[in-house]
Amino acid sequence: MILTILTYPNPELKRKSAPVTIITDSIRELVRNMSETMYAAPGIGLAAPQIGVHQRIIIIDISGKNEPPDLIVAINPTIVHAEGETYEEEGCLSVPDYAANVRRHERIIVKAIDLEGVERTWKADDLLAIAFQHEIDHLDGILFVDHLSTLKRELFQRKARKAAEEKR
Ligand code: NI
Repeated sequence: MILTILTYPNPELKRKSAPVTIITDSIRELVRNMSETMYAAPGIGLAAPQIGVHQRIIIIDISGKNEPPDLIVAINPTIVHAEGETYEEEGCLSVPDYAANVRRHERIIVKAIDLEGVERTWKADDLLAIAFQHEIDHLDGILFVDHLSTLKRELFQRKARKAAEEKR
């Protein structure tokens, strides 16, 4: 089932998500729906709070259009090591029609549990490292636009307000 993705400035996107304590059938169904929603959008990552569920679950698939899907499901993800710096353009399904460069760590190590409840470790760099950092931010109520300089963020907010007014 394709779910509705909440968009800025929905206050639900600012809420912190709670850890998953037990992987139930409803969590498995949620992940299925999240992946359908992400692939349909299409996007390379989605965090549960983006569909209004405040649990620490993210999914990522950075495989290209002509590659087989390679879905990562990370439950209760934590970054246990981070190094280097990148400054790449990011977008977000919750912030449509906007992209901006964001400073991130270049290489990270992420620990999480998968859908089977098994602890997994990912050594990520480049796009995958950025995707993990972006999606984990969502679990703490942080959007990529929150990383922008004050000036850039104000320009973004003005543009978003204008777009909202035009829709009315
Ligand atoms: Ni996002």
